[in-house]
Amino acid sequence: MENDFKMEESIIRCWSVCIPENAAEEVTKTLQSKWINTGKKEKEFRAKICDRFQAPYAVACMTGTAALKIALKALGVGPGDEVVSTPFTFIATNTSILEVGAKPVFADIQYGTLNIDPKSVEEKITDKTKAIMCVHYAGNPVDLDELRAVADKHGLPIIEDSAHAMASEYKGRPIGSTGDVATFSFQCVKIVTSGDGGVVTTTNEEVYKKLKKQTWYGIDRDTKKTSILDPLPCPPDGLGFKSNMNDITATLACVAIDFLDTALARRREIGQRYRTELSSLNKVKLLDYKEHWTPNYQIFPVHVEDRERFAHYMWERNIQVNVNNRRNDVYEMFGGLCDLPNLKRADEDVILIPLHFDLTDEDISRVIKNIKDYDNE
Ligand SMILES: Cc1ncc(COP(=O)(O)O)c(C=O)c1O
Repeated sequence: MENDFKMEESIIRCWSVCIPENAAEEVTKTLQSKWINTGKKEKEFRAKICDRFQAPYAVACMTGTAALKIALKALGVGPGDEVVSTPFTFIATNTSILEVGAKPVFADIQYGTLNIDPKSVEEKITDKTKAIMCVHYAGNPVDLDELRAVADKHGLPIIEDSAHAMASEYKGRPIGSTGDVATFSFQCVKIVTSGDGGVVTTTNEEVYKKLKKQTWYGIDRDTKKTSILDPLPCPPDGLGFKSNMNDITATLACVAIDFLDTALARRREIGQRYRTELSSLNKVKLLDYKEHWTPNYQIFPVHVEDRERFAHYMWERNIQVNVNNRRNDVYEMFGGLCDLPNLKRADEDVILIPLHFDLTDEDISRVIKNIKDYDNE
């Protein structure tokens, strides 16, 4: 769209980057300390994650994509394996599966929530299936009880790609506090950010040990060096990635986590206002938000009639709306289009309306007014 890069003040953008005021000062302290490699800030960050996400174990890494690969490898997913996954997501969810040599097998989604449908997951399980991958799309949690019932029946672990779901809650518990593994992203447009960054949480100590090794060449960096003549603390336990979070990133990530509840409160305020004011329109429909699922409103997708016209309509009124993901099976590397009816519908009518920390109440009123005008046309 020709207006794609117009950035004037009057434009209400779909995205923004949330950087707390003390970020530069904290990074300066780390730089001046001269310890910028993985060290005490990274440890501090992991402790903050365990505390805020109520997770027994956390491993930090450089991106959400690395977190996914580390998680897959720690669960033993590799060449010849299949992972039943959602096709409605950013491609990183599924390129990670390809990168470890396995094959994503797409299940259908629920049209109302845009999350993977546990019933469809069960239909896709074969004797090659090694794990299930879900995404808490838009920060709106997957029905974990229902998905876990399917996973448990077949003895499969679930990887929760929680890149959208930092501080979202399912039945009163933060995402990442209860499952096999959950991966998070601190990339720049996430609710809070360290520029780039990733975390994996787990409730399983054995998986935790493997995650640590996968993050740094197959070696647990916390292992104490025992010999003056050996440069490594211990021999690598097979191949691992080089994806440890350094202390510059960890400093930003600590600042981000300290700011998380402030950012979250504002997003929830905006999300709730959209849900109240846009709940009974004809051409624009909200997602299906459940009572005991608490979203973080990382993004705010809606289903809209005549999406292209809606996008032009909003752009002409200086409001950016955005199609952020296509169904992943349109990309050749995933093996061709699948016959998944809910996915097809969602791929044709989902669009994001602006939701981020920098929006003013007046901005939100303007978005709501223009959506209502579109609906009344
Ligand atoms: C659902 C999902 N998974 C994974 C990722 C990858 O995260 P990162 O950019 O930190 O690698 C993203 C990034 O936006 C995402 O939206």
